[in-house]
Amino acid sequence: MNRAAKTVLAIALTISAAAALIAIVLATGTEEHVDPQLWIGLLFGGALMELATIPGDEEEAEHPFSLATSFHLAAIMLLPGGWAALIAGGATLLGETARRKSLIRIAFNTGVAITATLAASQVFTGLYQGETIRNPGWDIYIPVTAMLIVYVAFTVFAIEAISTASTGNRWDVMSWVKRPELVSYLMEGCLAVVLAVLIKAAPQVLAFAIILLGAVFLSMKRHRALRRETRQTLKALAAAVDARDPYTAEHSERVGQLAARFTEALQMSVKDISDARWAGRMHDLGKVVVDNSILHKAGALDEREWELMRSHPNVSADLLQPLSLTSDLAPAIRYHHERPDGLGYYGLTLENMPVEAAIITLADSYDAMTTNRPYRSAMTHEAACNRIEECLGTQFHPVLGKAFVQMLRGETVDPVELPRNSSPPRRWFWQRKVTVASPFLDDGWQPTSALDAEKSTKGTHSLIP
Ligand SMILES: [Fe+2]
Repeated sequence: MNRAAKTVLAIALTISAAAALIAIVLATGTEEHVDPQLWIGLLFGGALMELATIPGDEEEAEHPFSLATSFHLAAIMLLPGGWAALIAGGATLLGETARRKSLIRIAFNTGVAITATLAASQVFTGLYQGETIRNPGWDIYIPVTAMLIVYVAFTVFAIEAISTASTGNRWDVMSWVKRPELVSYLMEGCLAVVLAVLIKAAPQVLAFAIILLGAVFLSMKRHRALRRETRQTLKALAAAVDARDPYTAEHSERVGQLAARFTEALQMSVKDISDARWAGRMHDLGKVVVDNSILHKAGALDEREWELMRSHPNVSADLLQPLSLTSDLAPAIRYHHERPDGLGYYGLTLENMPVEAAIITLADSYDAMTTNRPYRSAMTHEAACNRIEECLGTQFHPVLGKAFVQMLRGETVDPVELPRNSSPPRRWFWQRKVTVASPFLDDGWQPTSALDAEKSTKGTHSLIP
């Protein structure tokens, strides 16, 4: 653990200790009777949910899923001040200990549960003026919404703080807006209301709610398994495409790893890093439509063969866009053969070239240059770096290319102000195809960079395989 992460951890634990103290004071100070059956049920129910956590894929920035939050939120609605926070902390402590997590992790997660629940409970009790949760009226919506917002805000803030500090990635709370975890929290808030009302009004029918809870849990487990299997299938497909040519075996996997390393060096968010890894792995999937005779052709390609070859980024993107798992990767993949000077496959220029595509181009080119090809042997690391530098602004993004070479040489990467305004041409739903304005079809096209020249003179068909 680095120094920044240790500092964040120390601050988080201090805040948590203070929150725990406040919760104890509030709990012991209450005059309201607390039903032991109720708090024991919530404590062990929450711990059980924690224990049944479905792990997330860390490499994909996927967070673990559990329904423990429903119990924390139900406790807020059912128990007097302080008790809910202690129940949430106790349930997390028990569950995480049973899952044999590290001491630091247990302490951090328990602290976050106590703090988030205490803050949310203060907001809920302050806003909810209703007589009892047994017969809630329309006035329940605002306190529940506020409680959920505060709980989620505290949790997200804590997770983002510790992950930013330990990885050195960019602080990116806004990326949570698009994450499925936020929908899970919303669902858990709704479950909490149903649980709380049932426990108070009709505990005899609680069994139905528990069965429902189990169904939600199982469907989430299936959903995660499906995502995992889809990833594995896509990975296998990409590997199969690479394996058609012995020269490009494992090329996509290396491009993915390199693109991820670069986005990490640029201190981009965890989601951006994961997207870069997948875009790299999938970028040449569309070569599945290109015949082996074209892929392995030693001589220059004719116009029809070129057209097919040029279609592969679009085919890759079109294959992946309909899948919710990979739809975000489409711009990076569709435009991975674009160049700042407009001489790429589809004629995009620096102004409208997506940043993510420029990253894939760099990783793709470096890997292509440093591996053996039928028409030339592999370049050395330094020669490839020099070649990228020579082509900055023509073939490669000038700012990103410079930072990429710095990373490759093990130098400190200059902070890059990413041009967030750059965007690919919008593809409306009635448009069947992106208009291809390709310089390769123009009779007068001449190679304009060292790599183009190499392609042209050697008679090979792929500038960046
Ligand atoms: Fe490609």
